[in-house]
Amino acid sequence: MMKIVALTLVVATSLLFPWTAGAQDAVKKCLACHTFDKGGAKKIGPNLFGIFGQASTLPELVGKGVVWDEPTLMAYLENPSAFIAAKTGGAAKSKMALLVKDPAERKAAIDYLKTLK
Ligand code: HEC
Repeated sequence: MMKIVALTLVVATSLLFPWTAGAQDAVKKCLACHTFDKGGAKKIGPNLFGIFGQASTLPELVGKGVVWDEPTLMAYLENPSAFIAAKTGGAAKSKMALLVKDPAERKAAIDYLKTLK
């Protein structure tokens, strides 16, 4: 019974707020490794609430002046390892094993990150 109520709520919410479903879609691929809610747990990767506009806290990027703005995220998400290699003179690789090749997909994910504050 509770399951049906919960399911009905989810469906009703996505009908009432279609952009909510769209926003989650933008980061569907990320959910395996990241949480996006405030105070969310670390999974394989760090929690990403409020990440937009913040300096990176990844050990290999600390002190390298990396702030997660739009151009930085566009470059990072396209190829995290190439991005980190470029910032560290090839000394480090990313542990993030996902390349988002489609620029529109990257932009959608970034737009979603901007809303998390
Ligand atoms: C396969 C697991 C995995 C997936 C999928 C993944 N990530 Fe990550 N992500 C990681 C890991 C691991 C790190 C930490 C990287 C490191 O230590 O080099 C990370 C780091 C990051 C960071 C840097 C965070 C910081 O504190 O500086 C951002 C931003 C990020 N991911 C965004 C995304 C987005 C957006 C998506 C979806 C398009 C995504 N990730 C998908 C594993 C993943």
